[in-house]
Amino acid sequence: MQLLTTQMSEHITNSSWIRRMFETGIELKKQYGAENVYDFSLGNPDLPPPSQIKEAIDQLKNISEKPLAFGYVPNAGIPSVRAKLAKTLGIEQNTTLTAKDIVITCGAAGALNIFFRAILEQGDEVICPAPYFVEYGFYVGNYGGILRPVKTIEPDFKLDLDAIEKAITPKTRAIIINSPNNPSGQICSHTELKKLAKLLEHYSDKFGKPIFVISDEPYRFLTYDNEIVPPVLPLYKYSLVAGSFSKSLSLAGARIGYIAVNPDMPSAEQLLNGLTLANRILGFVNAPIIGQYLIEHLIDKGGVDISIYNERRHAMAQVLKDASIEFTMPKGAFYFFPKAPGNGDDKEFVATLQKQNILAVPGSGFGYPGYFRLTFCMDKQIILNSTEGFKKAMNASRSYRKLRNQADK
Ligand SMILES: Cc1ncc(COP(=O)(O)O)c(C=O)c1O
Repeated sequence: MQLLTTQMSEHITNSSWIRRMFETGIELKKQYGAENVYDFSLGNPDLPPPSQIKEAIDQLKNISEKPLAFGYVPNAGIPSVRAKLAKTLGIEQNTTLTAKDIVITCGAAGALNIFFRAILEQGDEVICPAPYFVEYGFYVGNYGGILRPVKTIEPDFKLDLDAIEKAITPKTRAIIINSPNNPSGQICSHTELKKLAKLLEHYSDKFGKPIFVISDEPYRFLTYDNEIVPPVLPLYKYSLVAGSFSKSLSLAGARIGYIAVNPDMPSAEQLLNGLTLANRILGFVNAPIIGQYLIEHLIDKGGVDISIYNERRHAMAQVLKDASIEFTMPKGAFYFFPKAPGNGDDKEFVATLQKQNILAVPGSGFGYPGYFRLTFCMDKQIILNSTEGFKKAMNASRSYRKLRNQADK
């Protein structure tokens, strides 16, 4: 008996590798002990939230018995929280923002979903530089849209503007930029964004309807070596920013994020009304109120200790160097996206790593075969302890290739 839509059944089949990986991790940990399994597959931010969270929670205790303390709030969010967010986002984006430019959402995931709900017609296309966060395909597909991945240029995953231009059609409605990028850890430069803006201005005029840029920035806070993430709002009027506090405050389970609309966008109010209604009718109603209170208290008090992520980044780089695995140093976020060795079969190499109890995700899952993703959301010592496993996997991979080549002769 068929209970699901054809699309949902296909989604389950296509994403079954994520479930399998999850299950394999649990199985290996049971078999060998958690301390002997190097699970670099999941990006669950493990640093504690900033210490001021205790005061924020105490404040919640003080109001908890008041009527409506946890009642419904406006669909776009508590006005005072929106105003505070507008201030910090305005500084990040070098743009004057006010509360009315912002909708508070259920994480960056909620922000992207309400955006696509508001703008996509059946069959509309959304361009996305690859490698990309695997959920984008689902978020776009949820509203009848089609994701059009366009490969970036190796080794540092720069936008391929010629390929993006070729991918633009009258059905193109938006392009997603994710900087720092999951999985590559690379940052889109000001020059790349400027060129992209020029290209999109041209095609928006040509087709008589805007092509939006949605900049997905949940890792904006997490950059290394004084890198900055250039703001997109000052460069292109049909731009929006989505983000969250899942990583910057380690509040991933609190499900709190936002979307900001460029105040220079013609008819911006129309889009904001659409986003607000989408937040309601998709069933989010309003972003979780506890998260909104926490943000109000924490937003101007700093974030998680990013020096810890930086130490882990250096540890992971050392491990990869010691194992002679090729990679480009990530400039931000908490991922490495190294090259699969030899013939570049990412799935095969991930399977080889698994034999050493090392869990990684094949680049194919991010629309970019030939590479694999490692997260560094775990203790530095665990990362360092994985060195031997990586070396053995590289040796095994060399031996398979040698055998295969001999067999082919
Ligand atoms: C690139 C990217 N965008 C969006 C999200 C969604 O994050 P959240 O909804 O927790 O803010 C994630 C989560 O890992 C991500 O990596």
